[in-house]
Amino acid sequence: MLTRLSIPSHEEVYRVEDAGAGLRGFIALHSTRRGPAAGGLRMRAYRSDEAALEDVLNLSRGMSYKNAAAGLPLGGGKAVIIGDPARDKTPDLLRAMGCAIDALEGRYWTAEDMGMSPADMAEIARATRYVAGRDQGAHASGDPSPVTAQGVFAAMRAGAARISGSDDLRGRHVAVQGLGHVGWHLARLLHEAGARLSVADMDGARAKVTAAEFGAEVVAPEAIHAVAADILAPCAIGGVLNAQTIPEIRAAMICGAANNQLAAPGDAEALHARGILYLPDYVANGGGIINVSAEILEIADRAAWVDARLDAIGATMARILERAAGEDASPAVIADRMVEAALVDKAG
Ligand code: NAI
Repeated sequence: MLTRLSIPSHEEVYRVEDAGAGLRGFIALHSTRRGPAAGGLRMRAYRSDEAALEDVLNLSRGMSYKNAAAGLPLGGGKAVIIGDPARDKTPDLLRAMGCAIDALEGRYWTAEDMGMSPADMAEIARATRYVAGRDQGAHASGDPSPVTAQGVFAAMRAGAARISGSDDLRGRHVAVQGLGHVGWHLARLLHEAGARLSVADMDGARAKVTAAEFGAEVVAPEAIHAVAADILAPCAIGGVLNAQTIPEIRAAMICGAANNQLAAPGDAEALHARGILYLPDYVANGGGIINVSAEILEIADRAAWVDARLDAIGATMARILERAAGEDASPAVIADRMVEAALVDKAG
């Protein structure tokens, strides 16, 4: 059922198959150097096995970077199931994936990702204990979104301090793209801090309600990136910083929760060349994995432990920005370099 593949960039990669349960997928452990590989389980109608394998390899590598940037004693891993979550998902299939995860004996911990629900994760947890992000149980961590928003807020304050010498966001104008689980909480924190808000969501009603709650201006989704704000906060989807949007951005700084905000690696340089301070997404949005890791690591005093690590996001971001300014480089490049050093030196 688990077939090991030899992929030099990753410590362990498996093809997962269970014909009886209709399961096809992959599990990738990029690195366990800092601790067990942790990262979510995604179910998607991939166009081919190769596409699924490419996704799991990229995502697991990304988790190594995110976990190391958050200073967590965790490595990076990810799992994918090939199939349409609306049509192909069955309890049998989920339990079969749970058995595959269990066979790795804790070297990989899974959690919810695209195409999975809390109920699905509960089904998987019947077959393995290596499931985090549960909403029940002694160390259950529940919805990570408010914690993710707090981490983005801490990073944003570090960015504001670098630009203006003060981390006070009062009176700053922030354009929030996407008002879902994280974006709404971020808008709330910013409103409470006295920031002025422009907001957008594909769901117009959602944008209107949030705007009324926080005294914000509603902007069309296709125009939010170009608002003349101090800060742009992408909290919707990936790839929003690209060749088309970058020339139109008027904010001095970008800091948000969305994963993979840069469409291509060269986009970090393009932002730097325009003098726009881009705060690396995987550092800013580490609150989610911090929240989940308290469950994996069975931390007793969760609240204090999580708070300390959220503060550390701000401190790490400040260090990245300082170094980037010193070297006249994009913070994205500096963050990658710092994390790569930490991945080699476990204590880093
Ligand atoms: P969500 O699905 O709850 O919210 C996304 C919102 O963005 C929705 O309201 C949607 O209508 C809106 N949206 C989609 N496309 C848009 C567009 N082009 N313009 C404006 N609005 C658009 O997702 P959630 O959980 O809030 O996550 C947001 C982002 O943050 C995602 O990229 C996610 O991967 C990332 N993230 C989330 C974490 C969490 O704790 N939920 C943790 C780390 C990263």
